[in-house]
Amino acid sequence: MLSKTIEAGLNKQINYEASAWYNYLAMSAWFEHANWTGFAQWMKVQAGEELEHMHRLFTFVNDRGGKVALEKIEKPSADFKQPREVFTRATEMERQNTKSIHALYAVAIEEKDYATQSHLKWFIDEQVEEEKITREIEGLLDLAGNDQSALLMLNRQLGERASKDS
Ligand code: FEO
Repeated sequence: MLSKTIEAGLNKQINYEASAWYNYLAMSAWFEHANWTGFAQWMKVQAGEELEHMHRLFTFVNDRGGKVALEKIEKPSADFKQPREVFTRATEMERQNTKSIHALYAVAIEEKDYATQSHLKWFIDEQVEEEKITREIEGLLDLAGNDQSALLMLNRQLGERASKDS
């Protein structure tokens, strides 16, 4: 059985993952509109992964006899000017998400909720990967600078990202 504190924390994290899904979807739309279809594809796959993260937590709350409470998702920002800005926002979002998961993990330790600790370990590892990827792409965009050929190559390369189920 989940304590009310852990249940609330998990529901907040569900909202966070749903919000990440919505933000990545907005980023994908921005890229698509600007004809960066490869970057758009990368963001669409990333959005799909966030939904999967949300479902992991959703199932866990139900499995533990808790009550899922879905909250409102804020409107995502989409007033970007260039690709670098979008990935900077993505890295910021991932860092915030890492903080949120760590804070929840700390509460699970305090409450001696071993099942929640175990479940969150997957997310802790995943966040290392999530932050690394967006940070690396930021670095590649810096290297490309204003070189349109390099940007187009990167766009094509990232467009090869496929979803896990395809
Ligand atoms: Fe669900 Fe991007 O972390």
